[in-house]
Amino acid sequence: MQQGQEKPGESSRRRFLGQALTAASAAMATPPLLHAVEASKHPEPQPAEGSPIQGETQITLQINGEPRTVTLEPRVTLLDALRERLGLTGSKKGCDHGQCGACTVLIDGERVYSCLTLAVMQVGKDITTIEGLARGDELHPVQAAFIQNDGFQCGYCTPGQICASVALMAEVKRGCVSVVTPDLNQPPQLAELSEAEIKERLSGNLCRCSAYNGIVAAVQQSVGQSPPSPAAAIMVNQSEEVRA
Ligand code: FES
Ligand code: FES
Repeated sequence: MQQGQEKPGESSRRRFLGQALTAASAAMATPPLLHAVEASKHPEPQPAEGSPIQGETQITLQINGEPRTVTLEPRVTLLDALRERLGLTGSKKGCDHGQCGACTVLIDGERVYSCLTLAVMQVGKDITTIEGLARGDELHPVQAAFIQNDGFQCGYCTPGQICASVALMAEVKRGCVSVVTPDLNQPPQLAELSEAEIKERLSGNLCRCSAYNGIVAAVQQSVGQSPPSPAAAIMVNQSEEVRA
């Protein structure tokens, strides 16, 4: 057989190999194509034009009776907005996880952990922080009661305790019951609010200095009761410890 001359069957084998390579190339090219088709069927969610999830956004919050405009990312908590952007450092960051209550503020009169809510969610609402309770030099009655009853030691939890106490009183006035209310059909009145009710209703606010006797006494005074003097409360506590 002369050089360059095909053996019998050579032509069909070449044709077969050529077809196989073409098929393999096509198979390798297909996945991206399929991806493109699939992607067009299920497009990734894209932020809408002007959506607040793109970068920072400017919002105006109503805080302590005044409009406050701030530019922030939507992921910023109300607590960080208050403390880091607006200079309202009265609300404290204890845990940043909704466990201590140090960051408690009032939103539309309800107590809220400001570390657990986003600032952008509060547009159009009425926010009151500890800085907004006093009227000029005149303390809010609950603030005064905390001072008069030694309701604090280091004071770190105190802004949250006071905001929570203000909300507690409003809740009782609205007829809210708690898990220790003896008869759920008979919400307690402020003047008859028991110590157990006060402790339960403030159980979301921790005090690492354990100034609880003074805190309870401050709330008792705020609701028009006669609290035991701090010294008397300490003696009661000590005698209870001795008995235990
Ligand atoms: S800082 Fe918000 S609950 Fe502790
Ligand atoms: S007074 Fe110190 S944490 Fe409450």
